[in-house]
Amino acid sequence: MNLYERIPNNVNLSEDKRLQRALEKWLPNFLSWWHDMGPEGFQEKDVWLRTAVDVGSEGWAHFDYVKMPEYRWGIFLEPAQPDAKVGFGDNYGHPAYQEVPGEFRNPLRRIIVTQGDTEPASVEQQRQLGHTCPSLYDLRNLFQVNVEEGRHLWAMVYLLQGYFGRDGRDEADALLERRSGNPDKPRILEAFNQPCDDWLNFFAFTMFTDRDGKYQLSALAESGFEPLARTCKFMLTEEAHHMFVGDTGLSRVVKRTAQLMKQNRDEDVRALSGIPLEIIQKYINFWFSYSLDLFGGEISSNSADFFAAGLKGRFKEQDQYKDHVAAEGSYTMLVVEGGKLVPREVPLRNALNEILRGEYIKDCEKGLARWNKALADEGLNQRLYLPNVRFHRHVGEYAGHHFDLEGNLIAKEEFEQRKTDWLPTVEDREYVRSLMKAVTEPGKIANWIAPPAAGIKGKPFEFEYVRL
Ligand SMILES: [Fe+2]
Ligand SMILES: [Fe+2]
Repeated sequence: MNLYERIPNNVNLSEDKRLQRALEKWLPNFLSWWHDMGPEGFQEKDVWLRTAVDVGSEGWAHFDYVKMPEYRWGIFLEPAQPDAKVGFGDNYGHPAYQEVPGEFRNPLRRIIVTQGDTEPASVEQQRQLGHTCPSLYDLRNLFQVNVEEGRHLWAMVYLLQGYFGRDGRDEADALLERRSGNPDKPRILEAFNQPCDDWLNFFAFTMFTDRDGKYQLSALAESGFEPLARTCKFMLTEEAHHMFVGDTGLSRVVKRTAQLMKQNRDEDVRALSGIPLEIIQKYINFWFSYSLDLFGGEISSNSADFFAAGLKGRFKEQDQYKDHVAAEGSYTMLVVEGGKLVPREVPLRNALNEILRGEYIKDCEKGLARWNKALADEGLNQRLYLPNVRFHRHVGEYAGHHFDLEGNLIAKEEFEQRKTDWLPTVEDREYVRSLMKAVTEPGKIANWIAPPAAGIKGKPFEFEYVRL
């Protein structure tokens, strides 16, 4: 098989012998990881998948039946801009970096490794879900997400092997060695060690946690380190579908719950094997709060250094802002001091994690509005909501303190007492799991979720998306 067949790419791989050798050595390890940790029980099935074949705005992807281990994971970057410039920070307007700036080598590698680690982690978290799919349409979407996370891992490994030499190659190997939820060699970020073993978790994960990915990738897509910017831009194209899966998945669950509530006089959907709104709300609280942690501390000198160096920008840095230096200005946030929430003003550059988190929250709110519209359309008055940004945090200023859903500072004892109302309990999880039974007949769907409004790429919902 020629090289392009083995590793489709638009990075002139055939001319870079050193990178080629590194990737070819890594490929069998990746396949054995996929075999061990990828979707269990479906490796030999034909799945109707989208494969990235180019980056052009027309026809970048090809749809056909593929067996997942034969998926053509490739390396695609957005085309280079002639005379690209550093778009922000102290070197604003200087030529973009084509190589890693020496003084930022270690932190930049850390950023790429941390992003890269999330990609295989989510595949591991989701590997059992195929056995309980609500429909063939959903099964196909799960596998689409999984193979693309595999490709995103390739994208990060390309950067590590192509730009960081020996230690980059070591990091690329380590990405295949850590395991989600394994106490001895866990994945780097905590949201990626949480179990994702039912489809409500899956939809909440792709809605909230993949959406964190969108914001991290968007900030890196602004990077003055051009290979990173171009890599992330193309990943965002695929990532949009993952968030679509989560957003519409939850919307369909909410819609079905509303329909079942109307069918029962006491609005008791358990009697009709649906998922109660309170449980949906608890899953939102859980995944939203863990995903907020992924943005890092509220006050961060790292974020300031990275912005100054032109390596990690703000969301839509070029479109949204006029002042790309941001050396002046401040940002006021609430912090805990002496047992109280008090305002603290910090230099703007130190607040960039918090500012990115704010963009993310605005985006999540749009999802909530759509789900609440589904409730309203069914004639119900109940509404879902996002908990306060301080609720249930494990990273940053609010970690180690306790807050209620509105963000009021409360005692640990009160939190412990009330947390079963706020976060999924063992019983909630068991109940949700008890509903998860595979529905694999084309055109059929599980009782706890509504069918999608449309199929994939013009195919009807009844299409045989996976040949079992
Ligand atoms: Fe990804
Ligand atoms: Fe994703």
